[in-house]
Amino acid sequence: MTIDYSAFYELLSGTGLEPWTELLPERISHGLRHERHGLLPQWEEVLAELPLTENAAVELKTGVDVKGDTYSDLEGLLKQLHPWRKGPYHIHGIDIETEWRSDWKWDRVSPHLQPLKDRTILDVGCGNGYHCWRMAGEGAKLVVGIDPSPLFVCQFFAMKNFINDSRAWVLPLGIEDVPQTPGAFDTVFSMGVLYHRKDPLEHIEQLKSFLRLGGELVIETLVIDGPEGYVLVPEGRYAKMRNVWAIPSVPTLEGWLRNCGLKNVRTVDINTTTTDEQHSTEWMTFESLPDFLDPANPAKTVEGHPAPKRAVVIASQP
Ligand SMILES: C[S@@+](CC[C@H](N)C(=O)[O-])C[C@H]1O[C@@H](n2cnc3c(N)ncnc32)[C@H](O)[C@@H]1O
Repeated sequence: MTIDYSAFYELLSGTGLEPWTELLPERISHGLRHERHGLLPQWEEVLAELPLTENAAVELKTGVDVKGDTYSDLEGLLKQLHPWRKGPYHIHGIDIETEWRSDWKWDRVSPHLQPLKDRTILDVGCGNGYHCWRMAGEGAKLVVGIDPSPLFVCQFFAMKNFINDSRAWVLPLGIEDVPQTPGAFDTVFSMGVLYHRKDPLEHIEQLKSFLRLGGELVIETLVIDGPEGYVLVPEGRYAKMRNVWAIPSVPTLEGWLRNCGLKNVRTVDINTTTTDEQHSTEWMTFESLPDFLDPANPAKTVEGHPAPKRAVVIASQP
């Protein structure tokens, strides 16, 4: 497997995304230049060594599950793409037990969505593309995931080697690198990204700009208990994360969406993250949620902030 987007460009005809064929190749090369990470050449080598597979049974609706022949070297190869954060994946007899049970997040989000069948979808900050595969499993026409991490793009192409489905793609781009294509998407997801943005309202405006009239915006983010207008702006780290800028209360977040001109704003889920959902595994051996919480009071982070709680908010482009 090599990282190759030529089949992706062929799918853009008739989608409103045709200008991307001209604009993206340079930005993608930039996102995957070797200076971005010292291990990138090694990750590309892993992709090149993945076995060619045939006659596998691929399941994307209930999980990401590929059943077929087993390969003795495969687990060792895939482990070279450590850390695996989003999943789980079940590939040719190997269970990639990831840091996150991303399937649990999908179970909280997906029942509330307009049906994804035949939709063109943008998933901003998609990680290795786990949810992109699940969106394809719901019958989406085209899923464009973007994530600036070259490792996550390599993990996506590793899975693509086995899943072999041309509807889902992960591009090595940050949202700031995505060409302006107003109204090109039916559904736009931003899951786990808002609190990493210095200007959350600008982020919402950007997401909105990609949506067609009547399209759906789905935001999943950390939230804090509190009234409208309340936002936690952590000085220093939050749960050991360096780049957390603003964690709104649910009423604040809903107000931001309305202020940006979105309609039918509703919070469909609020959930406190458990250490069952996020923990270290043999596929992600670094610290994880149990290390980010105060051992004496797991309702607090080690910095003394409220422990991670997340909400899913959905809105429509009027
Ligand atoms: C917490 S993860 C969320 C992954 C996935 N959406 C999920 O909900 O499981 C946040 C992701 O945002 C990505 N990210 C960071 N900066 C970004 C940017 N400027 N544009 C898009 N994605 C970004 C990170 O690489 C990371 O994979």
